[in-house]
Amino acid sequence: MKIIITGASRGIGRGIARVLSREGHSLGLMARSEEGLRETRNSTETPQNTYLRACDIQDAEATKSGIDYLCEEMGGLDVLINNAGSVLRKSVHDISGKEWQSLFATNVHGMFYATQAALRHMSQQKRGHIINISSISGRLPLPGGSAYAASKYAVTGFSESLFQEVRDLGINVTTIFPGSVNARPDDNEEWKLDPHEIGEACAQCLSYRPQACVSRMEIRPSRVQRE
Ligand SMILES: NC(=O)c1ccc[n+]([C@@H]2O[C@H](COP(=O)([O-])OP(=O)(O)OC[C@H]3O[C@@H](n4cnc5c(N)ncnc54)[C@H](OP(=O)(O)O)[C@@H]3O)[C@@H](O)[C@H]2O)c1
Repeated sequence: MKIIITGASRGIGRGIARVLSREGHSLGLMARSEEGLRETRNSTETPQNTYLRACDIQDAEATKSGIDYLCEEMGGLDVLINNAGSVLRKSVHDISGKEWQSLFATNVHGMFYATQAALRHMSQQKRGHIINISSISGRLPLPGGSAYAASKYAVTGFSESLFQEVRDLGINVTTIFPGSVNARPDDNEEWKLDPHEIGEACAQCLSYRPQACVSRMEIRPSRVQRE
């Protein structure tokens, strides 16, 4: 399959890319850091089938042309994985307007821009699959993280509505709800999920025939008491 992954320069996006490359898929990777994208490509099993596009997902035009470019390079598009996102853990008293807006510009607006661009390709071919990485915080409150939770509730609302809207066009939509993931090199808490486990979740959702859609998947660390 031909798969675009946003937010693929590190963390969960890199884990997803590594798992999907092992399964032999062509990949189109997006993020702002070109160096991070190159590192991800070098860590995959199929660097020759992996295409890169550095762009800021907050920029609608840059995101559209990035998606179009990767579709052209890969020769089509079967799957978009909307993974790019930022986290903000701050009390509501301390969040600046700029931080609030930037969080939504990445987590919500960026996901919308990438989705709309991908749908142009998928609607023409009447098939495709969009996987949106929400979060447990996209379905449960997160005290001290109200802005992040609000942005992820928006991801969930968009994603689950999109499923209803495009399923009759032959396009599947999956919302994934990960719990805590060990996504940073300095984050060595073993109780958390590993990024490759989110990749395995994506691979599993893609393993069904197109007539069957896993619309929601929740994956959490077993040791819930420390989450
Ligand atoms: N880590 C967790 O515990 C956890 C749990 C549940 C859900 N999630 C979700 O999983 C996704 C990935 O999280 P992560 O933990 O892997 O985070 P991360 O390590 O900070 O990686 C975020 C990725 O998004 C990209 N990104 C951020 N802002 C961007 C922008 N303006 N334009 C383009 N790309 C941008 C980053 O690349 P550049 O900086 O190079 O642009 C990076 O590749 C997020 O949607 C997050 O909400 C994470």
